[in-house]
Amino acid sequence: MLCAMYLTRACVENPEPVNLFPKPILILIGIALLTATLFLQTGQAQSVALQITATPAPDRLAQPTLPAAPSQADYGAQEFWSRCLPCHGDRGQGLTDEFRETYPPEDRNCWLSGCHGARPYPDGWTIPAFVPPVIGAQALQRFPNAQALQEYICASMPYQWPGTLEEDTCWELTAFLLRQNGLWEANVELNETNAAQVVIFEPPPSSTPVPVATVNRKSDLIALTATILAAVILGLLVIFINGSKPRQ
Ligand code: HEC
Repeated sequence: MLCAMYLTRACVENPEPVNLFPKPILILIGIALLTATLFLQTGQAQSVALQITATPAPDRLAQPTLPAAPSQADYGAQEFWSRCLPCHGDRGQGLTDEFRETYPPEDRNCWLSGCHGARPYPDGWTIPAFVPPVIGAQALQRFPNAQALQEYICASMPYQWPGTLEEDTCWELTAFLLRQNGLWEANVELNETNAAQVVIFEPPPSSTPVPVATVNRKSDLIALTATILAAVILGLLVIFINGSKPRQ
């Protein structure tokens, strides 16, 4: 917009604008571009809208509310919030710089604090430099199925007090992580009778097939770039048309 405004002013200052194309052709090209833009946007509108709505969050550190009839995964969300979120992030993204910004300034650098830095402290522990994501496209890839994930959580998490969780809590946390990763509907109870059948990550049998998610994201990007390009070209056309108007 700013750019277009700037260009308009430049054109106004030019006393004899150069008319590169006859007006009817410009209008036809404009209509064609507009149609193409609309066509591209219909398919991509949802994903773009999702990206936009996903950004603002009122209080990212607030405790999640429990629905009237909570599922195992809903209880898992509560457990995750109180036991895992400080390290694995409010969206399971891991201990990223962006997530640490949600904390008050004095609490943002956990590695410098007395209890989690290198300084000795009774009952303190050092937070590892990297805490992996547990929700998202790249998460949980070392686990073949839900059983393996549940066993890992029970044996190794939370990092500072491994092996302290109740078994039921481990199932709730597993159900929650599966649901957030789109791997489990959470409408039946997850337990040792069905967990081995819930596949988390299957290594590709041969070569390297392109994951579906990447393809989708790529086409999103292409559509977005095409839309922006079309919009810029349209803007320039408008400026040209205005510029070619006879001056009084
Ligand atoms: C003090 C920080 C901390 C807390 C709290 C914590 N974790 Fe972790 N978690 C880690 C670190 C560090 C690793 C990586 C350990 C490794 O690779 O050996 C990890 C790894 C994991 C993994 C494996 C991820 C992968 O793909 O390799 C899962 C699953 C997990 N944590 C779940 C949990 C759950 C559930 C809780 C809450 C009960 C929790 N964590 C609490 C730091 C933490």
